[in-house]
Amino acid sequence: MRGEPGIGKTALLDFAAAGAAGSRILRAAGVWSELELAYAALHQLCMPLLDGIERLPAPQRDALGVALGLSGGSTPDRFLVGLAVLTLMSDAAETDPLVVLVDDAHWLDRSSARVLAFVARRLQAESVAILFAARDEGAVDELAGLPDLRLGALSNADAGELLDSAGIGPLDERVRDRIIAEADGNPLALLELPHALSRAGFAGGFAISDRTALAGRIEASFRGQVAQLPEETQRLLLVGAAEPLGDPVLLWRAATALGLPVEAAAPAEEADLITVGARVTFRHPLLRSALYGAASPEQRRAAHRVLAEVTDPELDPDRRAWHRAQAALAPDEHVAAELEASAERARARGGIAAAAAFLERAAELSPDEGRRAQRRLAAARWKRLAGLPDAASTLLADAARSPLQDRDRAALQRLRGQIALDLGRDSDAARLLLDAARRFEPVDPVLRATPIWRRSGRRRAPGSSRTASRRRRERLARRRPWWELLA
Ligand SMILES: Nc1ncnc2c1ncn2[C@@H]1O[C@H](COP(=O)(O)OP(=O)(O)O)[C@@H](O)[C@H]1O
Ligand SMILES: [Mg+2]
Repeated sequence: MRGEPGIGKTALLDFAAAGAAGSRILRAAGVWSELELAYAALHQLCMPLLDGIERLPAPQRDALGVALGLSGGSTPDRFLVGLAVLTLMSDAAETDPLVVLVDDAHWLDRSSARVLAFVARRLQAESVAILFAARDEGAVDELAGLPDLRLGALSNADAGELLDSAGIGPLDERVRDRIIAEADGNPLALLELPHALSRAGFAGGFAISDRTALAGRIEASFRGQVAQLPEETQRLLLVGAAEPLGDPVLLWRAATALGLPVEAAAPAEEADLITVGARVTFRHPLLRSALYGAASPEQRRAAHRVLAEVTDPELDPDRRAWHRAQAALAPDEHVAAELEASAERARARGGIAAAAAFLERAAELSPDEGRRAQRRLAAARWKRLAGLPDAASTLLADAARSPLQDRDRAALQRLRGQIALDLGRDSDAARLLLDAARRFEPVDPVLRATPIWRRSGRRRAPGSSRTASRRRRERLARRRPWWELLA
């Protein structure tokens, strides 16, 4: 299902869940945050199926175990992770049909999006249904080609009925018509804009209806509602908005650290802005982004600082590192190094996009220009492998402006060549790769022995004796193969 914010995607997922009695329902949602954590959504979905993991064929079990952080091991193959989830879901569906609901898919981490799309494409006779809900803009590439349903606006008559049922009280006919026109058939706007109007009064008039600005106006209405709450409640809400997990324990710990009483949540719950249960949920994701966007940079940093303090460094080092990074005021090598370590952990689990995101942030926070450029280079490498060539190119352009060692300069040029190759710009690629090879020659002893452009296309004479060929094999084994430099 695709559609703009507030059009009713989550409501329809709830409807689907209610209509799927007798089926087992699994739900997960992408969460807005600058933090990309590999396989976070998949983790959410697979945890209830965990007992089935033991029954998976060993290669699938191992791959999924590493991806979900349940066990250590070599970087899991994406295909095997996908296959593991497919097997897990089909096995689970043998007892009861399985309905998988994935909300806000536009915020899924890329690793999870790929795996879930892989599974969705391969469902055949299994009693498994997967339903994704996503915004139109920046739609998830991974889901392209799956059958989709675009949610459109409510008719004026339906919009009027919804407005009347919203409990706002009788409205002047002219005002009512204006709200309906302004909301443009968006249910969330119909429910929220009257709040903004009742405060601002009706004298000011409205902006001309513009769909792209609608989300902004809904956010403004949410901000207005939040501004009426006590100061302590507002601070608590900001901490909640800065915490992508929706973990109530973390929220209470942070509240305690800030000296906020538990009762601070009550006014927000009464106003139906948040619900604190097994998870902290906001009435709508736009409320979360409105809260976060309205806070000053210093307020945001304070929220992340306290969240970093209360996040367990043993259990959740990556999330802690990320909060520390968001809390950092100036470049800080400690924080940058911590993020670099998180990148390595993410990479080991096969979270390439996550590794790239951590490294990019580590670069921004590096005080030393040389380290910053090296981290940008590393981030670019993973961005490219995550299928994000534009982001990779931007990072390379930034890195190229800094002083780099010759070897890094050569690596940068090689990466540019590889990106050109990926994008089918073959002649650029050839030029860049040859240039890279020339730059590698003086800095790489192996390549100095046999420069790549002199070797290419030339076949070596086969060994004349077994000893000669063995010696050559040994020599080759000691030497770094040239293709590794291109890989
Ligand atoms: N067809 C509808 N009729 C009445 N209310 C609706 C309808 N669709 C959505 N809503 C209400 O509008 C609000 C926003 O819907 P939601 O499903 O959260 O939007 P989305 O998930 O697309 O951002 C919710 O309060 C929801 O209950
Ligand atoms: Mg929604």
